[in-house]
Amino acid sequence: VTDVRPLHTADRVGATELWQAAGLTRPWNDPAADFDRALSGPASTVLGAFHGAALVGTVMVGHDGHRGWVYYLAVHPGLRGGGLGRLLMGAAEAWLRERDVPKLNLMVRHDNAAALAFYARLGYADSAVTVLAKFLGHGS
Ligand SMILES: CC(C)(COP(=O)(O)OP(=O)(O)OC[C@H]1O[C@@H](n2cnc3c(N)ncnc32)[C@H](O)[C@@H]1OP(=O)(O)O)[C@@H](O)C(=O)NCCC(=O)NCCS
Repeated sequence: VTDVRPLHTADRVGATELWQAAGLTRPWNDPAADFDRALSGPASTVLGAFHGAALVGTVMVGHDGHRGWVYYLAVHPGLRGGGLGRLLMGAAEAWLRERDVPKLNLMVRHDNAAALAFYARLGYADSAVTVLAKFLGHGS
């Protein structure tokens, strides 16, 4: 039986370990700080899937006042292909629907073919938009 619930500060280590195992961390992101920021306000959270006491999957979900966004979708490497990713995305979509957010956007790295195939099965399509980004360094 899989239970999905919002994570708490006590789940920080388990969540960031899953993100590392899933290859989702990057040197310029501090995953523990990302986790804490997502839990710090009402417009975002991290949902976790549990088998008993064991955290086996996560998804970060939030909205910016307009669109919903998902980050850090990760399933334990030994449990992939069993429906946990679909379950977590369904929970993220429900979280947004409860807040009347009409559309969910998400970003997938171009080299992540497995994730692209996964999202296609869930009905997500390339929206032909280029994502622009800029680091906002202090004082610059
Ligand atoms: C992407 C990820 C979350 C998918 O989780 P999962 O639990 O394995 O996925 P599910 O078992 O729920 O699969 C849902 C559907 O996607 C399909 N799918 C999953 N992985 C797939 C793959 N690599 N290639 C093709 N289809 C795939 C499944 O066959 C299933 O299809 P169906 O339900 O329509 O029959 C998981 O592989 C993961 O943690 N990857 C590493 C982290 C990552 O890349 N995250 C996304 C960052 S954008």
